[in-house]
Amino acid sequence: KIVDIRGREVLDSRGNPTVEAQVTVKADGKAGELFTAIADVPSGASTGKFEAMELRDGDKRYNGAGVSQAVENINKEIYPALEGMNGLNQRKIDSKMIAIDGTENKKKLGANAILAVSMANMKACAKALKLPEYQYIGGICGEKMPIPMMNILNGGAHASNNIDVQEFMILPVGAQSVKEGIRWCAEVYTCLKKLLKKDNLSVAVGDEGGFAPNLSGEEEALDLIMAAIIDAGYRPGKDFMISLDVAASEWKGDRKGHYRMPKKNVEMDTDQLISLWEDIVTNYPIFSIEDPLDEEDWEGWKKITAALGDKIRLVGDDLFVTNVVRLKKGIDEKCANAILIKPNQIGSVMETIEAVRMAQSQGYVAIMSHRSGETEDTTIADLAVALNTGYIKTGAPCRGERTAKYNQLVRIEEMLTIK
Ligand code: PGA
Ligand code: ZN
Repeated sequence: KIVDIRGREVLDSRGNPTVEAQVTVKADGKAGELFTAIADVPSGASTGKFEAMELRDGDKRYNGAGVSQAVENINKEIYPALEGMNGLNQRKIDSKMIAIDGTENKKKLGANAILAVSMANMKACAKALKLPEYQYIGGICGEKMPIPMMNILNGGAHASNNIDVQEFMILPVGAQSVKEGIRWCAEVYTCLKKLLKKDNLSVAVGDEGGFAPNLSGEEEALDLIMAAIIDAGYRPGKDFMISLDVAASEWKGDRKGHYRMPKKNVEMDTDQLISLWEDIVTNYPIFSIEDPLDEEDWEGWKKITAALGDKIRLVGDDLFVTNVVRLKKGIDEKCANAILIKPNQIGSVMETIEAVRMAQSQGYVAIMSHRSGETEDTTIADLAVALNTGYIKTGAPCRGERTAKYNQLVRIEEMLTIK
């Protein structure tokens, strides 16, 4: 039974406030032991237009970014409504909060308030049953270690350099374990740092821990990453693949249906942008491109999926926003063939799981993901294993809020492989 819930305002990795929830459940029986867990929600910078609503105060505190209203909603609305309920019934807990909120996008209570409680409840129940979170969520089915997609070079809205593509990721597809894959990535990361230093380029990092140098463009970024992979002793295309997150919803052009790279100030139409991606797929070992087009350019998505869908994964992040209604439309219209899964885009654990299930049942790859504003919370690492997503993107092997997730994967892998 849920006996206590409290919310609090804590800091995220960008120095902005975010919501933490603490849930206490009481076990059945005479002893009635108490189990308490906390969960923190992350926050995006290149947020999709169709995401659930993150409630911010908009007053003087924290330059308008305060979350005291969301915290109050936890303490005054959610706690009284959930008190006494059976925490093990996650679906009921989440449905109850969704019902009290009553809006399409959780704007009344705030998706940040609802998700924090949803995750903290899940964690408290895992503790009560004395199970690791991944096992509580996935039961005996959750056992696939995800391949890390490490974002080692940052651009777009996550860095103040001149690169328009938001993320350049490396995937250690040839590694035999998560532990080995993480080591390989860290080695490539160090080699990339050496290459940048040698060229007198900045080795300061962006929001997700990747380097954020000024470069001549996307191709130079890719060439540097290829060189770093080789310097570290690995084979691009065999040991490592590369993924991009364009975050093209940030590339709105002046003319309707047009795109503009915001930093380079180059304007183009959908077809020109698609052929840019086709060139990159031809020239580099690309595993996936996320948001290569705008979140509302369904026609463009159809075209690019027809053109590249059998070669690479086309990942809908802003396009799908972890929302089964938008995902269903994508499946019906043959747009994309993978979905990025961010619990805070939809705002509850159950709805997150439903999005993963729908994707997997239709042959879409589901990629578990962090946000650019993160905390030490490691729930997504457990979710990735529990739901057998096969992939997780959670930044560079640098910055504590990113390594927290990778380190949690190492622990889970150890638990799963104990003889
Ligand atoms: P965000 O970026 O968390 O700033 O939205 C991550 C992404 O676009 O995948
Ligand atoms: Zn994205």
